Formats: sequence, structure tokens, C-alpha cells
Amino acid sequence: MAELSPADDPALTLLLTRRSCHALVAPAPDDAELELILRAALRAPDFQHLRPFRFLAARDEGLQRLGAALHRAAVRGERPQAEIERAPRMPLRAPLVIVVIASPQPSDIVPVFDQELCAASCVLMMQLAACALGYGGVWRSGWPMHTPATARELGLAADERIVGFLYLGTPRQPLPPPAAEDPAAFLSWI
Ligand SMILES: Cc1cc2nc3c(=O)[nH]c(=O)nc-3n(C[C@H](O)[C@H](O)[C@H](O)COP(=O)(O)O)c2cc1C
Repeated sequence: MAELSPADDPALTLLLTRRSCHALVAPAPDDAELELILRAALRAPDFQHLRPFRFLAARDEGLQRLGAALHRAAVRGERPQAEIERAPRMPLRAPLVIVVIASPQPSDIVPVFDQELCAASCVLMMQLAACALGYGGVWRSGWPMHTPATARELGLAADERIVGFLYLGTPRQPLPPPAAEDPAAFLSWI
């Protein structure tokens, strides 16, 4: 099997060693770094360049506002009591949370699903960019993404949907390397 990091190529090494980080602390990417992260999102593959995405970011008091919105969504969505109680604290798990929203544009050519895949690609592009800058992050969904009330509380249009909550910050501790896997196990040829 090929070595995990076969080359002295930083981009390839980043791709082959990317890890999610759940335990995130301050500092978060600053404004200049966030701009780079957003630039990476804008390089997501985008059929017909429709730009079918937008980003809602929260830091500082915004994290509390996001938590309050999730709390209202949990109540409205009749989530279990434990989730309702936990909702306000969910965004506080990282110093920066980016809600990635698929915002489909009118098109006779590009199906909505393709546009949603484009928006989802933005999440990974941003996570990779954050990792390249030395930060950590995790792409989360959970009930907040799948409960329609969240979309309403965050002001999404009827045709928009959340494709991810990207939690970003500094890893609380160094991450172990990912376990080696054999890619051949996932590949077949037609
Ligand atoms: C669409 C999507 C939603 C996810 N939602 C969650 C989530 O809500 N909670 C969670 O712990 N991990 C979630 N994950 C998985 C993490 O982002 C991460 O991939 C996982 O912890 C494995 O770590 P790794 O990326 O280092 O392999 C989600 C991943 C995707 C692609």
C-alpha cells in the first residue's frame, strides 16, 4: 500500500492527513484568515458559476445569538427536553461557527441537488483551508440542520437549506494522525 504522506507536497499532505477536531478553543481565525477561508469556499466546484451558497458566521456574542436561535428552534421543533436544554450551549463549543447555507439559484440546467452539493463542498473547502492555517474544525449537522424550525429562526428563504455547521477554532490538543485505510477496498471498475 502507498505511504500515507508520499510526497513533500504540502497540499497533498493536507488532503491525506485532514482530521476533524471536536475539542476547539480560542483563538479562532481572525478576519484576514477568515477571508482566506471564505476564498477557499468560493473555489468549490460550481456548475454554471451560480454561487448557490451563503454563509452565516457567529463569534463572540453571535455564538449566544446562534444558541438562542437553536433553542427557539428546538422548542418549536418539539425536540426532546434534553436537546432543548442543551441547544443554547451548542455553538459555544467553538469560537467560530459558520452556518453554510445552500441557496439555489434559478437554472434550467443545474438541478437543485447539484447546487446543494456545491454548497456542501464549500464546507470541506473551508475546513481544509482552516487546517492549512493551523486551525481545527468539524462539520456538524445533527437535529439543528434537519429541523425546519432552525431554518426559520435563522432567516432562511423557503428554498434554502443548511448543509452544515462548520465549527472552527484551535485544537485543544494535537490530533493523532488518521488511521491508515486501504483505498482499494472502496474501488471497483465498471
Ligand atoms: C454532512 C455531515 C454531517 C456531520 N455531522 C456531524 C455531527 O453532527 N456531529 C459529529 O460529531 N460529526 C458529524 N460529522 C462527522 C464529522 O464532521 C467528522 O467527519 C467525523 O467526526 C470523522 O472525523 P474525521 O473527519 O477526522 O475523519 C458530519 C459529517 C458530515 C459530512
